[in-house]
Amino acid sequence: MELARNLGLIVHFLGLAMILGPFLVQMRSHSGYSFGWVATGALLQLLSGSFLTFVAEMRVAEDPDESVNHMKIGVKLLLALVILVVALVGHSKMKKFPTGASPRKLLPLLHIAGFLALTDLALAVLWPGVVT
Ligand code: HEM
Repeated sequence: MELARNLGLIVHFLGLAMILGPFLVQMRSHSGYSFGWVATGALLQLLSGSFLTFVAEMRVAEDPDESVNHMKIGVKLLLALVILVVALVGHSKMKKFPTGASPRKLLPLLHIAGFLALTDLALAVLWPGVVT
């Protein structure tokens, strides 16, 4: 169970990097926004987060004194879904952008995805445990 959790967390941190990496590097760029990476990262967060939730439920089933913080997971899930939708919208708009035109007006979408990921990160660390 511990190995499954650790492997899930590794994928979870990779997904986080895929969202925050493009945001931090391109937050002031004028073009070339990597919405595809952000969308892939958000999808990874949803998949690895669901897996981690499953592993946490298994752990709790073995110990009646512990419980999974479903409210925290629900909020994280919602934010990750919004990140995915925003990144997919950005990705499809980037593809349709005429060559030569500046896609700078899509930058707010990258900012929204990045700030929501930072919010999710803060929630993960500051809101007391998934298993309490
Ligand atoms: C951008 C979105 C997300 C970010 C930035 C994020 C971040 C993190 C971080 C930093 C941790 C490790 C710290 C800790 O355990 O408190 C963590 C753990 C966890 N995350 Fe996420 N997360 C995201 C999305 C999700 C989603 C969508 C789910 C559920 C569907 C989820 C479920 C979990 C669970 C269950 C753990 C705890 C694993 C454990 O302690 O056993 N996360 N997350």
